[in-house]
Amino acid sequence: MSVTITNADASDLGTLADLHRQCFAAAWSTADFARLLAMPGTFALLAREGEGGGAWTGFILARQAADEAEILSIGTRPAWRRSGVAEALLAHAFDRLAGDGATAVFIEVDAANAAARRLYDKSGFVEVGRRAGYYAASAGTPGDAIVMRRPLAGAGAGGGTARPAGKVEPG
Ligand SMILES: CC(C)(COP(=O)(O)OP(=O)(O)OC[C@H]1O[C@@H](n2cnc3c(N)ncnc32)[C@H](O)[C@@H]1OP(=O)(O)O)[C@@H](O)C(=O)NCCC(=O)NCCS
Repeated sequence: MSVTITNADASDLGTLADLHRQCFAAAWSTADFARLLAMPGTFALLAREGEGGGAWTGFILARQAADEAEILSIGTRPAWRRSGVAEALLAHAFDRLAGDGATAVFIEVDAANAAARRLYDKSGFVEVGRRAGYYAASAGTPGDAIVMRRPLAGAGAGGGTARPAGKVEPG
């Protein structure tokens, strides 16, 4: 089954907040998303099942300033994970950012987040820095943040920005 990616607008704030709540312990509200999307150069994409009005499966939030961009958040609803949703969201975001003139995109990830790190490795990001003790831990020592960078098309990205069709099945 395929995944459809669309641009989020003001009518999607509730959907974005709902998806974020299902993906992160510290949930962002609709007001948070409204504030974030009002920042210059910021956009969100939504993924949904199939080609016509299927379930919302994931989101990505990105910001661009001049020729650099940053993925601010990305998440896939638990039942749809490991189905290519995040990969498809990243590929669409890369296309859009490159089209708008970005030559590189950055992301910051908790060193302990193995799933996200594998996703970013597979999507062409490489580690360029580390912030020790950046993430608060519920127990033990705070986790490191890893800063990763990916060149975008036209800047020696290599593998291009092909959009995976998605192999979406609820799991
Ligand atoms: C990280 C996250 C966004 C991945 O979303 P997803 O839609 O399941 O990812 P995809 O199906 O597109 O996976 C693409 C690749 O990423 C890697 N990957 C994704 N989840 C993985 C996991 N649990 N374990 C190992 N590798 C994983 C794999 O290489 C995978 O390719 P493969 O399935 O062909 O092996 C999702 O687990 C999530 O929402 N987590 C909670 C929120 C979060 O941590 N966001 C990132 C913050 S930096």
